[in-house]
Amino acid sequence: MKVLVIGKGGREHTLAWKISQSPLVDEIYAAPGNGGIEQIARCVDIQDDQIEALAGFAREKAIDLTVVGPEVPLVKGIADEFAARGLRIFAPDKKGALLEGSKVYSKNFMKKYGIPTGEFRVFSDFNDAVSSVDIFGYPVVIKADGLAAGKGVIIAGDRQEAEDGLRTIMVDRAFGDAGIRVVIEEYLEGTEMSMLCFVDGETIIPMESARDYKRIFDGDAGPNTGGMGCYSPNDIYTPEIRQRFKEGIMIPTLEAMKKEGIDYRGVLYFGLMVTGGDIKVLEFNCRFGDPETQVILPRLESDLVEIMTAVTDKRLKDVRIKWTDRAAVCVILASEGYPGSYPKGRTISGLENGFGEEVYLFHAGTRSDNGIYSTDGGRVLGVTALGGQKEEARDKAYKAVDRIHFDGMQYRKDIAK
Ligand code: AMP
Ligand code: GLY
Repeated sequence: MKVLVIGKGGREHTLAWKISQSPLVDEIYAAPGNGGIEQIARCVDIQDDQIEALAGFAREKAIDLTVVGPEVPLVKGIADEFAARGLRIFAPDKKGALLEGSKVYSKNFMKKYGIPTGEFRVFSDFNDAVSSVDIFGYPVVIKADGLAAGKGVIIAGDRQEAEDGLRTIMVDRAFGDAGIRVVIEEYLEGTEMSMLCFVDGETIIPMESARDYKRIFDGDAGPNTGGMGCYSPNDIYTPEIRQRFKEGIMIPTLEAMKKEGIDYRGVLYFGLMVTGGDIKVLEFNCRFGDPETQVILPRLESDLVEIMTAVTDKRLKDVRIKWTDRAAVCVILASEGYPGSYPKGRTISGLENGFGEEVYLFHAGTRSDNGIYSTDGGRVLGVTALGGQKEEARDKAYKAVDRIHFDGMQYRKDIAK
């Protein structure tokens, strides 16, 4: 088979790496890819949101399976375009992707079908939003309706911060049209958990649990990022929580999608808040998580391409998915200044030799020029290690991190602690 992976981050490197292990696969392409993906795939210079060009490329190369990493092309309807041209794609259609693409839609969807989530109100007028911003007390969560590259959620500690947040989103339009409407939501306390599931419209199968670290600094301080590290399985994922997730959230969501006429094929990612035995949905994402993928796929023992084709062909119920019991920890190495503005083009050293058994280096914002790697993004590299327990995996991951260097490199020291 020929497989095309769309995207250029650590998630896509991990996808390409896992796909390359499948005996079904002869050739992998990536659009646009990065310095690490280039080692295992042919990278083509088409950006992830150039849907027509991507479909044209898939047709020209007779790609058998296209796998989409990021949310933007999904929300723009890449799956619909590929389907219209008879091309097989592992991705939800535009209707399914709205679960991530509109917070207003997803909150109303959860409310309609009794899927547990925080209390909320929707506003399209700035003055109305300001006069109601107190309703849930403080802190309060303010969310831009549309996609905002992970930056559209503001947690405001008091009325002034809340007003400033609303102004940024609704008046200044910091995220463009994503801020036409906002959700004001009650703040939920607890431990976050990411549950990614394979879905083929009829069957839904959860992957292993993960815990993402969103803040830039140790001890969960500083601004939110795309994710600074991850581990799997999540400590709070007990058999009881697993049962509650499946019965109270996962199955009802599948049933709700069916009732809404959403024939969802791909990965549905549940961002959850767990408080005691109680679980609520913070958000849906219509794709693999980054860096969740970097800890989940190294634990997958089954053939990912077999699972993906079962999803696209609606045969997921016949598939058995095997996971290793070994724990995985991923530490993200980021550029100086990230998640704010950051320099590019800094030389990366220490990547030359392998990192040993069960240690994997996933490239995110890197580029390679004649074998010399340099930084090319905010999140630069992810180092994943497996171990019998997460402590062992963590030690291995941080030992590997110690060997890597670029000027201004920053990372969290407390992943999986
Ligand atoms: P979202 O894009 O909705 O996942 O929000 C991004 C991050 O904001 C989440 O991963 C949480 O850390 C935080 N967050 C979102 N909604 C809430 C909430 N209702 N209560 C507390 N934290 C939240
Ligand atoms: N790790 C968070 C995300 O992928 O949205």
